[in-house]
Amino acid sequence: MPSATRKTAPKGLEGVVATTSQICYIDGEQGVLAYRGIDIHELADHSNFEETCYLLWFGKLPNRRELGELHDRLVEERKLDAAIIALLRNAPRHVLPMDVLRTAVSALSFYDPQEKSNDREANIDKAIRLTSQIAMIVAAYDRIRKGHPVVEPDPSLSHAANFLLMLNGNQPSATAERALDIALILHADHELNASTFAARVTAATLSDMHSAITSAIGALKGPLHGGANEAVFHMLELIDSSGAHPIDYIKGMLAEKKKVPGFGHRVYHTEDPRATHLRVMSRDLGNSSGQGKWFEISRKIEEFVNADKKLNANVDFYSASTYHTLGIDVDLFTPVFAVSRVSGWTAHVIEQLDDNRLIRPRAEYVGPEHPNPYIGMDQRS
Ligand SMILES: CC(C)(COP(=O)(O)OP(=O)(O)OC[C@H]1O[C@@H](n2cnc3c(N)ncnc32)[C@H](O)[C@@H]1OP(=O)(O)O)[C@@H](O)C(=O)NCCC(=O)NCCS
Repeated sequence: MPSATRKTAPKGLEGVVATTSQICYIDGEQGVLAYRGIDIHELADHSNFEETCYLLWFGKLPNRRELGELHDRLVEERKLDAAIIALLRNAPRHVLPMDVLRTAVSALSFYDPQEKSNDREANIDKAIRLTSQIAMIVAAYDRIRKGHPVVEPDPSLSHAANFLLMLNGNQPSATAERALDIALILHADHELNASTFAARVTAATLSDMHSAITSAIGALKGPLHGGANEAVFHMLELIDSSGAHPIDYIKGMLAEKKKVPGFGHRVYHTEDPRATHLRVMSRDLGNSSGQGKWFEISRKIEEFVNADKKLNANVDFYSASTYHTLGIDVDLFTPVFAVSRVSGWTAHVIEQLDDNRLIRPRAEYVGPEHPNPYIGMDQRS
C-alpha cells in the first residue's frame, strides 16, 4: 500500500468508509440497523441486554447454557474496589456524572486484575467487567451525590433490573425493567459513530481497553453525540415551564439557526429504527406513569420538524422522555447511554485488535506557505 496521500476527505469524514467490521450493519436509506446481521426490531422484541452483549462480543446468539454463564460472569463482576467508591465520594458535587464516569473508568484500570494484558481473552474479561462496573458507577455516584447509601447489587436480577435497583433503592416494576432493557439493546452499538471510532483509534495504538473506553466516554459526552438526549429534555422542560407552544418554541430556535436536539443524523436519511421503539416506549411509559405531557410535547415537536425541516427524530429524541419517566435524572441520561454502549465499544476494540493496524490519517495542510521564514523576536511587529 503506497504511503502517499490520495485524496482529501470530506469534512467530518462524511461517507468515508474507514474500516471493515462484522459487528453492526446500517442501511441509512432504508432505516435498517442490525447487530451481527440480526435486525434491531427483532432484538428489541425478543432479546435482552445480556443476550445482546453476547451477540456483540462473540458474534452469535448464545444457547441457554452460554447465556446463563454470561449472566453469572456479569453478576460476579458487580463489585467496585473501595478506592473507586472513595473516588466517587470525593468528586466535587458540582461536576457532571459523565465526567465522574470518565475519570472513574480510567481509574478502574488501577485495580483491574488483568491490567497488564491486552490479549483477546483478557479483553473479553475486561468487556464483561467494564459492563458491570460502569452500571454500578453510574448508580452509585447518583446515590452518593444525593446523600443516599450505595445499594448492594442483587445477583438474582438482570442487568437492567439491577441497575434500576442500585439507582432507585427499590425493585423496579416488570414494565420499568423491560423498558430499560429495550433501551439498552437499542443503544448497544451503532457502527463507526464518533465514540466507537475514538475507542478504535485508541485501541489501534496498542494502548489498552480502559484507555479506549475512556476515550469513547469523552467523545460520547458531546451534545452532537450522546449528550443530545440531555439537551432534548432541557428543551422539553423549558417549553413546559415557559408555557410556550412547542411549535412556536421550535420556530424560534430555527430562526436563531439553532439545531433542534434529537433530530438529524449523519447516516439515516429516513426514520432512525431505534426511534421507532423509543417513541412507543415514551408514549406508554408516559401514560402509565401519569406523565404523558412529555410525550405530547415531543410528538408536536417531531411532527413540526418532520414537516418543516424534513428531519427525523434520532435515538436521543424519545430516549429523553423515556428515561425521565423511568425516574432517571437528566444529567444521567448520557451516562445511561454509556451503560449500554460499553458493550459495543468493547466489541469494537476486540475486533480492532484481531486485525490491527495503526489508524493514522493525514490532514490537508492549508496553513501559511512553506517555507515561512522564522523571524527573530526583535524584528517582529
Ligand atoms: C446529528 C448531527 C450532528 C449530524 O450532523 P451532520 O451530518 O454534520 O449534519 P449537518 O449538521 O451538516 O446538517 C445538515 C443540514 O441539516 C440541518 N440540521 C441537521 N440537524 C439539525 C437539527 N437537529 N436541527 C436543525 N437543523 C438541523 C443543518 O443545519 C444543515 O443545514 P444546512 O445544510 O442548511 O446548513 C446533526 O443532525 C445535529 O447536530 N443534530 C442535533 C444533535 C443530535 O441530536 N445529536 C445526536 C445524534 S444521534
